[in-house]
Amino acid sequence: MLSLLRPLLAACIYLLLLLLPGGQGRIAGYTNGFHYQDISNGNGNGEIYFNGIRLHVESPQASVSATRGSTATLPCHYHYEPELTTPRKTRVKWSWLPANTVITHVSPEAFLKETEVMVAMGNRHRSYGSFRGRVRLRRSAPGDLSLVINELQLNDTGRYRCEVIDGLEDESVTVDLELRGVVFPYHSQKGRYHFNFFGAQQACQDQEATLATFEQLFTAWEEGLDWCNAGWLADGTVQYPITAPRDGCGGENLAPGLRSYGQRDRILHRYDAFCFAASVKGTVYFLEHLTKLNFTEAIEVCASDGGQIAKVGQLYAAWRLMGLDRCVAGWLADGSVRYPVTKARSNCGPSQPGVRSFGFPSPHLKFGVYCYR
Ligand SMILES: *[C@@H]1O[C@H](CO)[C@@H](O)[C@H](O)[C@H]1NC(C)=O
Ligand SMILES: *[C@@H]1O[C@H](CO)[C@@H](O)[C@H](O)[C@H]1NC(C)=O
Repeated sequence: MLSLLRPLLAACIYLLLLLLPGGQGRIAGYTNGFHYQDISNGNGNGEIYFNGIRLHVESPQASVSATRGSTATLPCHYHYEPELTTPRKTRVKWSWLPANTVITHVSPEAFLKETEVMVAMGNRHRSYGSFRGRVRLRRSAPGDLSLVINELQLNDTGRYRCEVIDGLEDESVTVDLELRGVVFPYHSQKGRYHFNFFGAQQACQDQEATLATFEQLFTAWEEGLDWCNAGWLADGTVQYPITAPRDGCGGENLAPGLRSYGQRDRILHRYDAFCFAASVKGTVYFLEHLTKLNFTEAIEVCASDGGQIAKVGQLYAAWRLMGLDRCVAGWLADGSVRYPVTKARSNCGPSQPGVRSFGFPSPHLKFGVYCYR
């Protein structure tokens, strides 16, 4: 009996939704007009009215990788099986779970944290939050509900859900959006293990980066990152990547991998940070200058060259994504001195490519400088 009532109830709510102005109706007990899947959710009841017609929502790509500032398309298509003779009104809702969501113990159910990106029905659509004016549906063919996001930002990464709702059925698919970039370990000028979670967040941001996600650190580890100091990640965990197991880094008998301390107290506990930098719009370059410079002079010469002293994230991105290679140490905005090597050679540090660091020398010492313009 109940199973017969359910689709009826769903149909009534659907009608109600159609009658609401602007498609923005709210129904008591539901978070928004689209959340009535509790009633008709995936139990096949909708098929009573459909005579066995099923709604399929698919994406040919489980993840999309793009560069910062560019445009990304997250594919999503739907169709009915067998095909419908009369078209049905469908709605689409794109929502997302940001990659930098801290999963707290209070709400382990990540699904609950999804927030709206855009909703559309017919020609009407609405986008939300930082996506407002930056997203549209591609609609290149019937059933194409792919989401196009312009001017990708560092914090757009995460899991996107394409949800198609036709009143009786409700199906969804998820697509992960990743940005091409580079993970780098970062510690405070005051030394090792000085950042609580929020300090780490701020430190990465100050260097034109974000806290790395678990996936980003994992990819960096797969590509060979080995670092024996623990750092905060965007999800509030503390981890470090080891490719060559050894004592003092989890022990030499432990397999290579990410060593995790799990969730730590975000205010009380202090570690380093793993930051993630994506491509930069301008250029990072070593400024040719006749003499070496102290830190204050370094800042000044970049400014008189029409730019500014480069941030650590910008140097890493230029090294990794643009192949910046220079065997001369230079000041950076945080007061550290580094240089980028893409082709390892003698007298340029270790035998692997990397950004070499001299730490944070006294500001009156003289080096070159890396600028950004
Ligand atoms: C993402 O970054 C942009 C630009 O840095 C900022 O304006 C926006 O508020 C951020 N969005 C979120 C959800 O943090
Ligand atoms: C850098 O040198 C200038 C002189 O060219 C001097 O005025 C300034 O105090 C020096 N800064 C530091 C941090 O030593």
